[in-house]
Amino acid sequence: MKKQFLSTLQQELSRLDTVGISKRRERVIEKFTDDPSPQAVIQKKARRIFNSNDYLGLRFHPALKKAEHEASEKYGVGPGAVRFISGSLEIYHELEHEIAKFHNREDAMVISSAFAANVAVIPCFIKGQSKDSLVSENALVVSDELNHRSIIEGVRAASIDSFHKAIFKHMDAEDLRRVLKENEGKFTRVVVVTDGIFSMLGEYQDIKKLRAVCDAFEQKYEEGIVLIVDDAHGVGCFGKTGRGVEEVCGARADILVGTLGKAFGVDGGYIVGDTIAIDYLREAAATYIYSNPISPGAAGAGVAAFELMQRAEGKKLLAQSQHNIAFFKSLMKKEKFQFSADSHHPIQPLFVGDSIIAKSLAQALFDEGFLVTNINYPVVPKGRDEIRIQISAIHTEEDIRIFVETLKKLRKTIKF
Ligand SMILES: Cc1ncc(COP(=O)(O)O)c(C=O)c1O
Repeated sequence: MKKQFLSTLQQELSRLDTVGISKRRERVIEKFTDDPSPQAVIQKKARRIFNSNDYLGLRFHPALKKAEHEASEKYGVGPGAVRFISGSLEIYHELEHEIAKFHNREDAMVISSAFAANVAVIPCFIKGQSKDSLVSENALVVSDELNHRSIIEGVRAASIDSFHKAIFKHMDAEDLRRVLKENEGKFTRVVVVTDGIFSMLGEYQDIKKLRAVCDAFEQKYEEGIVLIVDDAHGVGCFGKTGRGVEEVCGARADILVGTLGKAFGVDGGYIVGDTIAIDYLREAAATYIYSNPISPGAAGAGVAAFELMQRAEGKKLLAQSQHNIAFFKSLMKKEKFQFSADSHHPIQPLFVGDSIIAKSLAQALFDEGFLVTNINYPVVPKGRDEIRIQISAIHTEEDIRIFVETLKKLRKTIKF
């Protein structure tokens, strides 16, 4: 690389450092401690984990580790090639069967990550993926204004102009109605896409309301409306049986995107829907066709995770998760902290406001032996910085009590 360009890159890195938003100096976890609740050892000190998406603690579960090991023994540690080239391992089909059954859908498709799912799946419904495709380009995509980056990238990957794109106000079904009304007669089909759980605040899209609006306009567009919901943070941990926002809202998406990499404790993404839609995605989704699937070990662990979630142990973990969230909220309320009273999801934001204060609070918590994430602008609006706290089913009451006690102590020196 020419020195001049490297120098530009160095200046960009310095700029990110100066504005305080660089991410590359990741904390290195040396190992995890054992029971009762695993802690991350960083710089030789054990730290309680309050910033993980592993909401049920399944990544440490012996049944998942065993299944991962057995699958690696049977199939090797890597897939060898993409699925259509050198054969599709039986374990992927087992996993897809389990996922489809869990979400009560005709079919499921596993892909390397939920991010990869959005990047490929969204364009597939917006327009045909080859010159000869019979899928028309005459579609409008409508997105919640605060959707996850992977959805934004999915829309970008479709390479459509602004005429074919619209946004609706965050979690505002009436604004979606406005968009659908304004565009009647202009498009053959509409693709509505949203996060299920929004990961900054733990709030959720009421997809029953979205569904009702979509259904009301279905006949106004020749090919109707496709509702895509990415419930990466909801599947496995939200709702009585962990079916996510669909369960909580009592409504279904046409295409549901999920991940194995959060509540299910493993790694990889998935899509569920009708057989024809999934068959089409297997023919058209670039990150499925031209990129390796998850490892056989991850698929084996995934099967074990879905099986576990459908046994009494899964129900117990979900009940424990809800208990821990309620326990945390009761302590926070008692101490009058500014937190989200609405979220019953493991994501529990503590509102701090000022970015310098949020940063120093996250650092002070780290020094005291806790891992949390401070979320700052531009991810949240200016002046609305927060500490994102994530409660796990495998936290003990002691973990949660000590955490809130520490916040109380820090309040004396850091004003939040
Ligand atoms: C809504 C949403 N979609 C997708 C992802 C990415 O999931 P994965 O790690 O499986 O790519 C995330 C993770 O942060 C997310 O919050």
